[in-house]
Amino acid sequence: MVGKMTESMKGLRRTHRCGELSAANIGQTVTVMGWVQKQRNKGGIVFLDLRDRAGILQVIFEESECGAENFEKAGRLRSEFVAAIVGTVAKRQGAVNENLATGEIEVRAEQLRILSESETPPFPVEADSRTKEELRLKYRYLDLRRPDIQKNLILRSRITAAIRAFMTGEGFLEIETPILCKSTPEGARDYLVPSRVHPGNFYALPQSPQLFKQLLMCSGYDRYFQIAKCFRDEDLRADRQPEFTQLDMEMSFVDQEDVMDATERMVRSVCEEAVGLSVELPLKRMTWQEAMDRFGSDKPDTRFGMELVDVSETVAGCGFGVFTSAIENGGSVRGINVKGQAQMPRKKIDALVEFAKGYGAKGLAYLCVMPDGTYKSSFAKFMEEQQLRALAEAMEGRPGDLLLFAADSRKIVWAVLGALRCELAKQLGLIEAGKFNFLWVTQFPLLEFSEEENRYVAMHHPFTMPQEEDLPLLDTDPGRVRAKAYDIVLNGVELGGGSVRIFQNDVQEKMFEALGFTREQAYERFGFLLNAFKYGVPPHAGLAIGLDRFVMLLTGAENIREVIAFPKVKDASCLMSNAPDRVEDGQLEELCIQLALPQPEE
Ligand code: AMO
Ligand code: AMP
Repeated sequence: MVGKMTESMKGLRRTHRCGELSAANIGQTVTVMGWVQKQRNKGGIVFLDLRDRAGILQVIFEESECGAENFEKAGRLRSEFVAAIVGTVAKRQGAVNENLATGEIEVRAEQLRILSESETPPFPVEADSRTKEELRLKYRYLDLRRPDIQKNLILRSRITAAIRAFMTGEGFLEIETPILCKSTPEGARDYLVPSRVHPGNFYALPQSPQLFKQLLMCSGYDRYFQIAKCFRDEDLRADRQPEFTQLDMEMSFVDQEDVMDATERMVRSVCEEAVGLSVELPLKRMTWQEAMDRFGSDKPDTRFGMELVDVSETVAGCGFGVFTSAIENGGSVRGINVKGQAQMPRKKIDALVEFAKGYGAKGLAYLCVMPDGTYKSSFAKFMEEQQLRALAEAMEGRPGDLLLFAADSRKIVWAVLGALRCELAKQLGLIEAGKFNFLWVTQFPLLEFSEEENRYVAMHHPFTMPQEEDLPLLDTDPGRVRAKAYDIVLNGVELGGGSVRIFQNDVQEKMFEALGFTREQAYERFGFLLNAFKYGVPPHAGLAIGLDRFVMLLTGAENIREVIAFPKVKDASCLMSNAPDRVEDGQLEELCIQLALPQPEE
């Protein structure tokens, strides 16, 4: 059936998008084209909803106006057929539709061409779809017709346009960097691309343009930006894709303040231009240490309170072994006060304990300050009444409050309570809609000890400058060195991050030493950068914003997939194209590649 009886564009030219017409066009003859949303045949009259990316328009066919042939064709229209209509804009004869931008008008059709037919789509093309995401992603080309996704992608385009306008206006040059690169594993896993010309050798797809943008600084392009595709083979989450886009930038002859200033003015300008959101500058700032101590996270969501309280001193000598042994082992005991939730059912508290275990907790202790002032607690029997009171006091626990405690290493306690406060805020509806809390987190640790690799790894990347006053610690106590690194956070999501770069070879070599690389290994991996540094390097610094995350937060989408045209799912595959897929044996032979696949598990 499909393809039969369709007509061509010959002699027709679209005058308006469907959703652009309004009462101002009444009386005009227009030509509109789009997809059939709905067709209702009411005997002598056919009502048609025609849709394009601008919106939905009602078209009316009456035989007396459009003639018998067009009327008969209108009767054949089905969902998702593509049609062109010439007609006159008129005031709507039926009730005004408040839900449609074009709700006051209709087009009285004079001519109809069916440009393309459609099979019955596997799901309705409509806003607020209740279709399962897998099916939507399998037929992404249909899903992309839905108005909510179209709205997201249109906003994304507005955002990139605003970014380009701002950056260009500030004297940044847009320069492209390669996609086929040398593998410099440090951070996530690389995606590798085999070389046919150099059998046994591989390119890596860039995790970010980091090294190239630093080289551009060495070459005198003192303000660079790029809307750059990046690739990272890491576990996916709601705000992570294996292939994503950064607004990447770098500046020469600057310090941290200059990059932060340019970034926040860019963010303000984009928010204003693209979504009409006004952002007050300067953005709030917090050191990493403060963020961890108060929120248990380096990307704190400051839209609600429930801050962490360190009660290690209060419980130091108490009779509850869970608390005292954590402290004796160098850890700490911290809590959060869940206001007014003392009566939370036991089942719900148990679910929170399980949630905490997901973040590495061995358990979660609770103390309910009952409305009558008595206590109900998982550890009351190990403590004197007076100790319980002191603990509740330290937590500012008032009658009706639920106090939750984690005892462990600082790192685990932060992770557990940091995640718990966000989860509880969501469950209890503590987050005010329409709030956009931007925040800078500064003074990150330079290094982080990796148990897995049994060495220090760079917290941001190996080119990040230590704080001058901490430089001597690089030799003695590397874990305590703070970096000239900064993250920009929005509503508890890491929006972007950057740093001042090392531009002195001796500091860079010291850094590689701290990371456990020999000089040879460092040159083998990053030689092209280290060599470039021998020929005159300007001090430089930069940052990259995750564009997908930025768009996700500005559209209010729950998932990064909703703002990417063709996203991948959790296992990094594309449900529509079925990538990644096997390739022909001949292709592998040409690349000198033999597969050694693991045996499938029983
Ligand atoms: P970083 O690794 O912090 O820094 O990345 C910058 C920003 O990119 C976004 N992002 C992601 N978005 C979606 N999916 C992913 N898998 C993903 N990974 C990162 C985040 C993050 O804040 N070269 C440095 C920047 C610099 O120092 O200038 C870099 O890439 O929003
Ligand atoms: P237990 O002594 O294991 O029965 O635990 C008593 C209470 O302490 C229970 O509510 C546990 O969930 C809690 N608990 C156990 N380990 C920890 C921990 N590391 N931090 C906080 N609470 C814990």
